[in-house]
Order: sequence, then C-alpha cells, then structure tokens
Amino acid sequence: MNDEPNIIDLFPTPLYVVTDVLTEEENQELIDHIIATQDKQVGKGADCWDSGKASPKNSFGIDLKNEEEFNLILKKAHFHVTQYAKKFNFPSNNFDYMNKEWWWNVYDNHSYQEFHSHTPHLFSGVYYAKVPVGSSDIKFRHPIWNLGIPHTNENQYNSDHAVFKCYDRSMIIFPSTLLHCVPSGENTEPRISFSFNYG
Ligand SMILES: [Fe+2]
Repeated sequence: MNDEPNIIDLFPTPLYVVTDVLTEEENQELIDHIIATQDKQVGKGADCWDSGKASPKNSFGIDLKNEEEFNLILKKAHFHVTQYAKKFNFPSNNFDYMNKEWWWNVYDNHSYQEFHSHTPHLFSGVYYAKVPVGSSDIKFRHPIWNLGIPHTNENQYNSDHAVFKCYDRSMIIFPSTLLHCVPSGENTEPRISFSFNYG
C-alpha cells in the first residue's frame, strides 16, 4: 500500500517555445523593414491600449497583408500555431476559417504595455526579432492570480506571475486568454517584436 500523498497539477497552461525561427539574415531583413516603416505607419495601440502614448510604436489595426516583407514570418507563425493547436486536438481544417491578425511592436523610450489578454482569439503568439540589453521580458499572470496565499518563499504555486525570458529570433505561443504584459524597459536600442492572433 502506498500512502504517500501526490500533487496533481490540474489544468496546465501550455506555452510553446521555439528558437531560431528565422535565420540571422532573414531576421535582419524583417528588422530593417520594421525600422524603415516604424514612423510612417501609426497603429491604433495608443488609442486601444491602457498604456496610451507610452505604448510601443506599433502597426496594430493596420492591414499588412500586401507587405511581402512579412510573408516569411507569417508562414513560420502559421506553421507553429498549427503545431501548437495539435496539443489541443484542434481540427486543422478550422484554420482556413479563423480570423487572423498580426502587427509589429517597437519598444523604446521606456514604452510598455499593461496586463491584457487577446480574447476573443484562441491562440496568440509573439516573435522576438530583436531583444537588446535592458529590454523587458514578457510577464504572464497566473490564471488565478488573486489566490493570495501568504508565503515566505515564492514557488510555482504561490506566485502570481511567471516571466519568460525573450531571445532574438525566438517565438512563443500561448492561449489568448492568458494575461500578460511588457513592463517598461531600460533598453536604449529598440526592442522589436511581431505579434499574432488566430481564432
Ligand atoms: Fe499581448
């Protein structure tokens, strides 16, 4: 007889992580394009997000589908979202009918974005093109963040957040319901990311 107690982690939150999504050259082309257009295209982030004028420069709400410079990263995002969706046994033919959107973000001058989710989408992701020294990482909030259990040392059960360290040319995908934020950074070079939603 085994009377040892067990802890079973109910309802795990899957975070998909993949590195070296683009080659150095491909990544540089993407960076160059975003840098070249960052002041010509003004997305709706400052109007839609609580961070307002302190939001990163962005192309949120702008239709980028005619800009071929994004074709490759969109193809990679699509591939990885389909891989991620398999973990949910999500029907692959549904991808043709899903709403899809994407936009770039340039964080500089201590810009930030508050905690938010990407509902009503299903799957959301970020590709990190450039994460210079001093950049903030992405911070996820525990789905039951107001648990409020007093504790001395932080662990995976009592912490209200988890930080994922961002690396150049890496991509993450997570459930769109998962709250996350990007705190104000100390980077002097621009932190460049590419976000996308499916569903
Ligand atoms: Fe986000």
